Amino acid sequence: MKYYIGADLGTSSLKLVLVNKNGEIIKSVSKAYDVIYPCETWSEQNPEELFNAFVIGTKELISEIRGEEVAAIGIAGQMHGLVILDKDDKVIRNTILWNDARTHKEVEYLNGVIGKENLSKYTANIAFAGFTAPKLLWVKANEPENFEKISKFMLPKDHINYCLTGVHATDYSDASGTLLLDVKNKCWSKEMLDICFVKEEWCPKLYESYEVIGTVKEDIANILGISKNTVVIAGAADNAGAAIGTGTFGEGRCNISIGTSGTVLVTSDGFPSAEGNELHAFAHSDGGFYLMGCMLSAASCNKWFCENVLSTNDFGKESEKIDEACLGKNNVFFLPYLMGERSPINDTDASGVFIGLSPTTTRSDMLLAVFEGVAFAIRDSVEVAKSVGINISKSKICGGGAKSPLWRKIFANVLNLELEIPNVEEGPSFGAAILAMIATGEYASLEECAKKLIACKETVKPDSALSALYEERYEKFKKIYPEIKNLYKELRK
Ligand code: XUL
Repeated sequence: MKYYIGADLGTSSLKLVLVNKNGEIIKSVSKAYDVIYPCETWSEQNPEELFNAFVIGTKELISEIRGEEVAAIGIAGQMHGLVILDKDDKVIRNTILWNDARTHKEVEYLNGVIGKENLSKYTANIAFAGFTAPKLLWVKANEPENFEKISKFMLPKDHINYCLTGVHATDYSDASGTLLLDVKNKCWSKEMLDICFVKEEWCPKLYESYEVIGTVKEDIANILGISKNTVVIAGAADNAGAAIGTGTFGEGRCNISIGTSGTVLVTSDGFPSAEGNELHAFAHSDGGFYLMGCMLSAASCNKWFCENVLSTNDFGKESEKIDEACLGKNNVFFLPYLMGERSPINDTDASGVFIGLSPTTTRSDMLLAVFEGVAFAIRDSVEVAKSVGINISKSKICGGGAKSPLWRKIFANVLNLELEIPNVEEGPSFGAAILAMIATGEYASLEECAKKLIACKETVKPDSALSALYEERYEKFKKIYPEIKNLYKELRK
């Protein structure tokens, strides 16, 4: 029997699935790791800890099969994180993550001095705090001793692939989020490399997501208990991987992912027009492209509110206390900007806010406000997509947050959109396993594979009365941020 390992290298944990060619998940394993917050809006991780989690998790994942039955490994990883290696391929400093907001000065320089128009010409995107290029400029300005040592940079999942194979590689979907890739022409942008003082030889070699980058090094294969002929593919950005896993590729399809971040991703065969650059224009893992809006704190708002405020990690039990009759009538609003916000407000100073509290407010009203606030913020990105002429008539939904039936109902009604729940909910890891099947020729094309492996197990339809109530609430939600926008700067000082 042949098996495929798909991995989702997330922010708070690594999720691994062992899949056979029929798409059956034989086993799944999850390994948590830490996010380090050196100060309020900074977030980092130790790349070696992530590789350890991969080794321990993989050994557990394959403990009931014969190691040589693993044909290929594919990883879909958290985007934009900066991993830097020295001349001996040793990690120089902790990874600076996608939701780290330290680079506001570098972003101002790139968007203001270099200019959004030029950035858009070179990369099809503008600068956002979480992107990789501003992080390289930050390291140069603040840690020149580290910058001098750089001999390679890569993204978090590329570092795992490097540890496995010894190959410095990335794929187009993940490279898109660096702001160093000319996304349309699928090559590193010479202009951007110059602007960011990056030498071309520091850049990982570019591959399509479904291409093989190498095989597992003998010593690592022995540690993992697999064959040294096991193939490692280039893999994908987590959002691109999730989209593959839910069958969102080709032309005009939409996937909403509610993980630590929340994203709305719309696919396109040809290069899409990203008018205004409020949405990111990135390369997709099927060889096409997509437009995407990304909010920085989605399911993580629920985790934060339950764990840090309500002191519970039984999320299901807590949400059961919400009376569904209260949906669309909540007087409490929540702005979910716990780590600042990317799409569409692009404001590193923004923070979380509850408004509308009264002596009758209950913990359930506040939790409902958290669910609704995340859904309203996702709607903000859907509205941007509409404003540039993208018609979204239905969407897939995946990610940890989408496992809650109540939250799914809120999303469907806030967005007034039919939401399809895929049969396999492990979006990024399942997508990575599918890409591994394509790379090894198990299926001739993604279409053929998707036809066989991907189905929809449930559709959540909006209810017209509830959607109308949410329409009114959204109008109110939209007014809160502009009113307090200037105050945020004061508070951060
Ligand atoms: C996308 C983004 C996040 C991370 C989360 O641009 O920054 O979705 O990929 O892992």
